[in-house]
Amino acid sequence: MKFSTEIYLISLVLSIRLLSITRSCEFSSLNRSDRIINVDGNTTRVIKIGNSDRFDMMFGTPYAIIDPQAFDGSGVKTLHLSFNTSNHTSNEASNYGRILLTPESFVGLDLDSLSLKGTDLTLNRDGLTPLRSLNHLTLKSCNIVEVPTILLMSFPKLQSLILSHNNMTVVHHNGFESLQHLWYLNLSSNNITTFESGCFNGLEELERLDLSGNSFILLPDAFEGLPKLLELHVRNCPNLKEIDDNAFRATPTLTALTISGTGVRSLQPGVFDGLLRLKWLQLSDNQINRIRKNLFNKLESLEYLFLDNNRIMRMESHAFSRLNLRYLGLSYQSPMDSDTFHVQRQVIENRTFDGLTVDIISMVGTLNPNITPAAFDGLIAGLVDLHCANLGNIETDIFIGLNVRKLDLRLNRISIIVADAFKEAVVEELDLSFNSVKITDYPSWGLSETALVTI
Ligand SMILES: *[C@@H]1O[C@H](CO)[C@@H](O)[C@H](O)[C@H]1NC(C)=O
Ligand SMILES: *[C@@H]1O[C@H](CO)[C@@H](O)[C@H](O)[C@H]1NC(C)=O
Ligand SMILES: *[C@@H]1O[C@H](CO)[C@@H](O)[C@H](O)[C@H]1NC(C)=O
Ligand SMILES: *[C@@H]1O[C@H](CO)[C@@H](O)[C@H](O)[C@H]1NC(C)=O
Ligand SMILES: *[C@@H]1O[C@H](CO)[C@@H](O)[C@H](O)[C@H]1NC(C)=O
Ligand SMILES: *[C@@H]1O[C@H](CO)[C@@H](O)[C@H](O)[C@H]1NC(C)=O
Ligand SMILES: *[C@@H]1O[C@H](CO)[C@@H](O)[C@H](O)[C@H]1NC(C)=O
Ligand SMILES: *[C@@H]1O[C@H](CO)[C@@H](O)[C@H](O)[C@H]1NC(C)=O
Repeated sequence: MKFSTEIYLISLVLSIRLLSITRSCEFSSLNRSDRIINVDGNTTRVIKIGNSDRFDMMFGTPYAIIDPQAFDGSGVKTLHLSFNTSNHTSNEASNYGRILLTPESFVGLDLDSLSLKGTDLTLNRDGLTPLRSLNHLTLKSCNIVEVPTILLMSFPKLQSLILSHNNMTVVHHNGFESLQHLWYLNLSSNNITTFESGCFNGLEELERLDLSGNSFILLPDAFEGLPKLLELHVRNCPNLKEIDDNAFRATPTLTALTISGTGVRSLQPGVFDGLLRLKWLQLSDNQINRIRKNLFNKLESLEYLFLDNNRIMRMESHAFSRLNLRYLGLSYQSPMDSDTFHVQRQVIENRTFDGLTVDIISMVGTLNPNITPAAFDGLIAGLVDLHCANLGNIETDIFIGLNVRKLDLRLNRISIIVADAFKEAVVEELDLSFNSVKITDYPSWGLSETALVTI
């Protein structure tokens, strides 16, 4: 039934047939390795593949049938087919082009890379001719509603799989089980709400996983099948509100973790504890409202920690203790009480930075934080950047115990720095440009004689 439907469609709509040169005498000027694709129906279009082993084609037509053995003998290794979607005004399925594949479409090919974009794939349930050497598969904007588990069995050596911009809602148990060599999986921009437990089973070589742009609410505890995972990317998931306490229990191999552009508000101490190899933690652009004591203290390999653009109302004593970082980003907080939606003043508790060694801390653009006495006590830093923070007068105890090469306080509204404000701090360079402090006052601030001060 299916077969006869396809025959019918072949006669009705445009299809592609590849004729080898031996069957097409009229193009005798072509090189031996040239191949011709006739666009069937109206044989008006002739496309040469030439000597290249790469073939890219964008269809302007709404249908294409890849005939059995269409590319047989062409020597193509990289095949990229897409539909021209630039005329499309909406995202509706009806606007996709359609590629009809038969199980034998790729017979005779030894592909390395196959990419189908902007198409509504009609996939045979029985899968395709096994492409035993296929390393890279992209099925982007193909209106796929489910992980094509059976199809994937046709590609036993697959190393990278991109299924972004589709319409999958659930990733089922064992969905990728056959892909034992996969190291890169991109599931971004789907509509995934559920990751079933065991959904990544079998992905024993997977190193990079991108789950961005999906609709799940909880970052689940679903990564137990991924013993080699190095990078997990979760960007732009506004529905994501919570991270399971055990989410990262099974992935001690992670070196980079991004959770950004989500609705996550709270991070429970312990959630990152097993991540002893983590170097890069990107947590910007969320709704995080508090940094609790000992949240990060087990991350002994961490070098970059980004918490910019959150709603941090309070950083607790020892929030960053035991870290040795290159960069800590805490800029542009909009602290807001999540129950009353009232804007709050950020509180930085005493000894928040105690036990932290860092090259650069950026605390730019958070308006008038309430820096409690000794907030910086125990911090060793190259640069503490507090410019544009709307800071008022500098009281005696704020910078007690700070040890910094350069303290950047430009563009605040500081007019008074009380006597001895820096007496118990080590500050080699202090930039107070664009404030209204009086230069004549500076001998009283308690800075060392060698300190470089810009006013
Ligand atoms: C045949 O291939 C050679 C080398 O790739 C190229 O220089 C030549 O132009 C081709 N001839 C035709 C007729 O395409
Ligand atoms: C082929 O061309 C004729 C007229 O040029 C047109 O009526 C017909 O629809 C075309 N067939 C296909 C399959 O596009
Ligand atoms: C885009 O739309 C124009 C005018 O509506 C049409 O002539 C053209 O064939 C369309 N192109 C594609 C790729 O569909
Ligand atoms: C895609 O279609 C648009 C509009 O019809 C056209 O301007 C553009 O050149 C086409 N792109 C390709 C690669 O054919
Ligand atoms: C995705 O699937 C849902 C039903 O599950 C449907 O309502 C929606 O239109 C689909 N979206 C696209 C872009 O196809
Ligand atoms: C995943 O695919 C999206 C869209 O194609 C791309 O923007 C993103 O960079 C990819 N993720 C990774 C980790 O390569
Ligand atoms: C996502 O899935 C839901 C439920 O199936 C559906 O209502 C919604 O239209 C889908 N969204 C998109 C963008 O496809
Ligand atoms: C430092 O902060 C902690 C926690 O808020 C508080 O219990 C303690 O009294 C404070 N210590 C000083 C010296 O202010």
